[in-house]
Amino acid sequence: MIKQQLIHSDYQPLANEIERYFAQSSTILQDDRNTIKEVVFNNETLVVKSYKRLGWFRGLIYTYWKKSKAWRAYEYGLKIAKFTPKVVARIENFEPLLTKNYLICCKFEADFNMQAPLFKNHPNKQTIFKEFTKFVYQLHQNNILHQDLSPGNILIKKNQQDYEFKIIDINRMHFKTLSLKERAKNFNKLWANDDDLALILRTYAKLADLDVDYFVNLGLGYNQQNKTRKIRKRKIKKMLGL
Ligand SMILES: Nc1ncnc2c1ncn2[C@@H]1O[C@H](COP(=O)(O)OP(=O)(O)OP(=O)(O)O)[C@@H](O)[C@H]1O
Ligand SMILES: [Mg+2]
Repeated sequence: MIKQQLIHSDYQPLANEIERYFAQSSTILQDDRNTIKEVVFNNETLVVKSYKRLGWFRGLIYTYWKKSKAWRAYEYGLKIAKFTPKVVARIENFEPLLTKNYLICCKFEADFNMQAPLFKNHPNKQTIFKEFTKFVYQLHQNNILHQDLSPGNILIKKNQQDYEFKIIDINRMHFKTLSLKERAKNFNKLWANDDDLALILRTYAKLADLDVDYFVNLGLGYNQQNKTRKIRKRKIKKMLGL
C-alpha cells in the first residue's frame, strides 16, 4: 500500500510514478546512506530524497511505532515553512511493512553551504557567521530546535543585500521553549574552531541579551565535549575495524 500526502494535486502524476521519475534522473546530489536527486516536473526543479531502504526490523518499527523520516520531514517542513525549502510531498511504500519512503521538496538555489565559511576560508565569513546566528536565533525564538544542525544541512544563498539561509535534513526536530543550555548546545555539530564559534556565540548572546562570557564558555564547552566524543567513537571504530 502506498501512502501519500501532497501539498497540491498538481503533483499527483509525479507522486504516482515517483519510482520512474527518480530512476530516470541522472542529477545526483548525494548518494550515500540516502540518495538525493533533482527531478524536473512540469518545468519545476524539485529535490527528491529517497531514504535508505528499510530491512524488516526497522520496517516493523516504522510501520507500527514510529513515523517515517519522510513523514516527519514533511510535517515539520509545513510547520517551519519559511526556514526550509518548500515541501511538496511525502510518499511511503508499505508492502505491508514500510520499505521505501520519499520526501519531495522544491530546490533552493543555494550558492554554498555552511562548510564554505567554516572550513574553506570564505572571504566574507564573519558577516555570514553573524547573519547565520540571527537565523538560528529566529528559529529558537519560534521554539524550533534542529537536532542535526551540521554544516551540510545549512544552505546559503547570496542575495544583493544579504545572505539567505535554509535548513534541510529536518526529520529530527524539537518544538519547545528552549533553555539557555539547549540554545548554546545547538551549535555543537558545526565542527567550528573556537574563534569562529566564539564569534557566533557572542553574537547570539548579544541578540538574546544574555551574559556574553557565560554563554560563550557554555557553548565552547559543549562543542569540545561533542568533538571529544566523536573522535573517541571514530578511534574505537577504527580499532575494531568497523
Ligand atoms: N531542497 C534542496 N535544495 C537544494 N539542495 C538540496 C535540497 N535538499 C538537499 N539538497 C542538497 O543535497 C545534499 C544532501 O541532502 P540532505 O542533507 O537532505 O541528505 P543527507 O545529508 O544525505 O541526509 P542524511 O544526513 O539523513 O544522511 C545537501 O547538502 C544539498 O546540497
Ligand atoms: Mg544532510
